[in-house]
Amino acid sequence: MAAAPSLLILHPRLTLFTTTTLRPLSLLFPHHFSSTTTPNATGRSISLSSPPSDYTQKIDVNPPKGTRDFPPEDMRLRNWLFHHFRQVSELFGFEEVDYPVLESESLFIRKAGEEIRDQLYCFEDKGNRRVALRPELTPSLARLVIQKGKSVPLPIKWFAIGQCWRYERMTRGRRREHYQWNMDIIGVPDVTGEAELISSIVTFFKRIGITARDVGFKISSRKVLQEVLSLYSVPETSFAKACIIIDKMGKIPMEEIKKELKLVELSDDAIEDLLQVLSMKSLTELEEKLGDAGEAVRELKQLFSLAEKFGYSEWIQFDASVVRGLAYYTGIVFEGFDREGKLRAICGGGRYDRLLSTFGGDDIPACGFGFGDAVIIELLKERQLLPEVPVEVENIVCSLDPDLQGAAATVATLLRGKGQCVDLVLESKPLKWVFKRAARINARRLILVGKSEWERGMVNVKILSTGEQNQISLDDLH
Ligand code: HAM
Repeated sequence: MAAAPSLLILHPRLTLFTTTTLRPLSLLFPHHFSSTTTPNATGRSISLSSPPSDYTQKIDVNPPKGTRDFPPEDMRLRNWLFHHFRQVSELFGFEEVDYPVLESESLFIRKAGEEIRDQLYCFEDKGNRRVALRPELTPSLARLVIQKGKSVPLPIKWFAIGQCWRYERMTRGRRREHYQWNMDIIGVPDVTGEAELISSIVTFFKRIGITARDVGFKISSRKVLQEVLSLYSVPETSFAKACIIIDKMGKIPMEEIKKELKLVELSDDAIEDLLQVLSMKSLTELEEKLGDAGEAVRELKQLFSLAEKFGYSEWIQFDASVVRGLAYYTGIVFEGFDREGKLRAICGGGRYDRLLSTFGGDDIPACGFGFGDAVIIELLKERQLLPEVPVEVENIVCSLDPDLQGAAATVATLLRGKGQCVDLVLESKPLKWVFKRAARINARRLILVGKSEWERGMVNVKILSTGEQNQISLDDLH
């Protein structure tokens, strides 16, 4: 038997054709194809040729667990969300960037025992390189900043919207792939950077109808932990590890947390003191404990004071228990949360002044945040704020006679040339069908190409909302 062509296309009449010859496969392999005429679900008769049994493989039509398809209605919602991400970023003067979804595995391997490392989708490619699907965008950003070197003036203000992959235990709003909106500022050492970033997220929330009654930001600083641990001469190398352990508080039993902290050389006294500080919810209380000379208290106070000037004080609260689960944070850290407490973190970020140098670059101060697409959709659903994003094609163009299909194509081309969206009816269809389709795509105008009008250079234009109908010459059609 001849080798089977690998690519098949469907003719409008649903007969299988090869791409190379455009001859029906039934002609090429007559003994393999029994051609039948079958009425389909809509009652229409279609000509079907069944492929041979060794060609067929019944597939699971669901995407892999934890991943999503985006059929048109979901894609419209995603575009709506991304449109707001983009608009807000641009409102704040950020430029858009992107990086490959596939990166070197080493970019994501850090030694602090982060959960993200265990969740990595990684493998060896055909050139024996260890690669990984990115679980986050920040390491790629750091790589690109180092690569660009001094050619990019500081501060860098970049934003990105990219798909991230984590082999995660699935919960509401947590998936194995998600899109993340990131905004990062490179080259600003002051908390003005963090204040600006939080302001942009607040702006985003307001635009989509979320208020300070719905969500808040818990804010702290890793420097709080650093200052406590420095009282107990805890080695510098234990710091990031201790942060990762503390981030598990509430997720695993406290005894387990204490055990793990001991393993990274924290004494019982240090652990008790640390846990007491971590329970603090007021900056005054923290100041009483650490004094006002340290950077932790000074920076937090400055951030809260800036928040007042930006006008988002009601959105933020100090919460020492926030440390975040990524090793590279060095200063202010924050997380967006829903006040009803039903969902996991909506977004999170902070300062990471040393990430670039851990990759061999210069130490450049940096801060940023990641904001996922999944939790916010859950929150909008909860608050019944999910928008209807209907399909909208302004015009539907249809010929009234099969011989006028070319004329209808001319009309469609003319309108598209003038920037009008057109759905051209590609087959001969009854008017009832055309009206139904026009309603489904929310068309504003129905343009019918009929024989007698066309001969006079005219078309029928019907405004669908009012029913008003006019004959318009092609020159006047806009
Ligand atoms: P992250 O906290 O790991 O931070 O993720 C940021 C946000 O991404 C989360 O708050 C959540 O909205 C979303 N997210 C994370 N994992 C999942 C998941 N499995 N399913 C759905 N959504 C998820 C980072 O990734 C940092 N790189 C953020 C950053 C940027 N820090 C500085 N610049």
